[in-house]
Amino acid sequence: MGWSRKDLLHIEDLPAKEIQLILNTAKPMKEIMSRAVKKLPTFRGKSVYNLFFESSTRTRTSFETAAKILGADTSSLAVAQSSLNKGETLLDTVRTLQAMKPDLVVIRHSSSGAAQFLAKELKAGVINAGDGQHEHPTQALLDLYTMQERLGSVEGRKILLVGDILHSRVARSNVWALKNLGAEVVLVGPPTLLPTEIKSWGVKTTFNLDEELPGSDVIMALRLQLERQQSGLLPSLREYSQLYGITAERVKKTGKQTLIMHPGPVNRGVEIESSIANSSQSVIEEQVTNGVAVRMAIMYLLLGGGTAHVVD
Ligand code: CP
Repeated sequence: MGWSRKDLLHIEDLPAKEIQLILNTAKPMKEIMSRAVKKLPTFRGKSVYNLFFESSTRTRTSFETAAKILGADTSSLAVAQSSLNKGETLLDTVRTLQAMKPDLVVIRHSSSGAAQFLAKELKAGVINAGDGQHEHPTQALLDLYTMQERLGSVEGRKILLVGDILHSRVARSNVWALKNLGAEVVLVGPPTLLPTEIKSWGVKTTFNLDEELPGSDVIMALRLQLERQQSGLLPSLREYSQLYGITAERVKKTGKQTLIMHPGPVNRGVEIESSIANSSQSVIEEQVTNGVAVRMAIMYLLLGGGTAHVVD
């Protein structure tokens, strides 16, 4: 199966077949990452621009690493030093970039829909690296890859997403992807951090974490997005941690070798106990490694790499 898409903007409308194509393509990419020389000539002469209007450690470095392994040239717009600060609009910035003929543009922006807007304006392919509270598709894909690698299929598996669902683009993208692949998704969080439209997501929601723990195959703790919160949503971090923090005691209650996941960055001692984040059940660092492989796969497919074999 080939891939005819120009952009990767969201997971909500991505068919299961295409999700699986990306995950299957990521497998040989991960193997390339463990080679002594991690550099392919595949996309020599191609250029990838990173536009990060919000902070990022994992996603930005991961895209840059992935592009470099594939042999592409990368440029990062230093937003703080760009002409956006001189009054230039995002549209004019985009047109300026277009004039430099990039092949792919990766964007993170605080506004939902920013990636879609860019994709309409640019001839280059656009990858959404997180837009506001809307979606973070590549995060969900690397999460899925990690679950499949550890559990085989996610079909029928019980996956808990715990915490700040309201502000989480990671939660939204994971819900669409996991539902699509047949997982049983349960969203757990305090009432103030569950969106009002959550019923329309079509998955179980609850305020009671302890009741949902037995039989869980995955617990994914979400970051408390304090920078997006108005005051008053939480009585205190201490109370949040008592009710929703992932502790050794809670992990035991699952009765399984449950996978512990977190998209990062982690607020240790709030969302997750440090000993659990560092435990053998935690795959938080594997998620980061797999992120490079999955982003290599996405770029490879968008830039027209064949799917039958990966060039070595
Ligand atoms: N998971 C994630 O998006 O992390 P960064 O904000 O560090 O990119």
